Amino acid sequence: MAGGFENKIAVVTGAGSGIGRAVSLAFANSGGTVAVADLNEGAAAETLEMVVRTGGSGIARIVDVTNAAEVARLFEDAKHEFGHVDILVNSAGITQSGANRAGEVSEEEWSRIFSVNTTGSWLCMKHALALMEPRGAGAIVNVASIAGLRPVPNQAAYVASKHALIGLTKCAAVEYGAAGIRVNAVCPGGIDTPMLRANLDGLTEEQAAGAMQAMAALHPANRLGEAGEIADAILFLAADTSSFVNGAILSADGGWAAT
Ligand code: NAI
Repeated sequence: MAGGFENKIAVVTGAGSGIGRAVSLAFANSGGTVAVADLNEGAAAETLEMVVRTGGSGIARIVDVTNAAEVARLFEDAKHEFGHVDILVNSAGITQSGANRAGEVSEEEWSRIFSVNTTGSWLCMKHALALMEPRGAGAIVNVASIAGLRPVPNQAAYVASKHALIGLTKCAAVEYGAAGIRVNAVCPGGIDTPMLRANLDGLTEEQAAGAMQAMAALHPANRLGEAGEIADAILFLAADTSSFVNGAILSADGGWAAT
């Protein structure tokens, strides 16, 4: 184990897949204990198995981050099992199901995106902050997006939800900094996860390869990122070694945001 997170308890949402799974494994590899939370029961259990196989430990919980009672139970369980929570990573997120201009997004779609990406992250923060403040310590990392920094045409609901998440991150950072709690966000570019690959549904192999190349070309690195690269950025923000980093919005996007 690389070390650095011994005796640290991390709650990770969206931990059944992609970035959430990668960061759960990274915490476990670094000596941390993880509460793995996801809507998808099988996926959460699988991540916990992987955590245990790497020599780590934790719990897995089925949690819909839009459900206040389920979120409350997650943090109660984490406190009951481990005594406290040091770190929260909000990675649960969804994208728009269709490519629509802002005026064409349905009300239902708008609410669905915001309820997971923004309200769900806020609900988890609410419970994490309540546990962290009395201890005078804690680190929260919100997984925003390049779409939280700039427009992505035909993704207005997603873009707005991630801009809102960045606003929430900055506000909480200012409000809780004196209480010893740091709140930061990471903004990934295109990362090769099941979420990104869902964009390829229905395409031929050739079309899919072209779409992947077009997405890669948006990044000065001329490639997509790997979930592990975002996990590394999250671990940096969550670690005690970044003790003076608060309210930061860290791009991890192969240079996309600089273009
Ligand atoms: P993913 O689709 O691989 O994983 C997301 C996980 O969140 C899934 O396991 C899913 O079951 C879970 N989830 C969805 N709704 C949930 C809910 N209501 N409650 C609990 N869990 C729920 O996606 P990926 O790529 O790992 O994305 C993670 C985060 O990173 C998201 O917030 C996404 O917006 C963000 N992101 C991803 C990028 C990419 O290119 N993959 C780029 C920029 C940001």
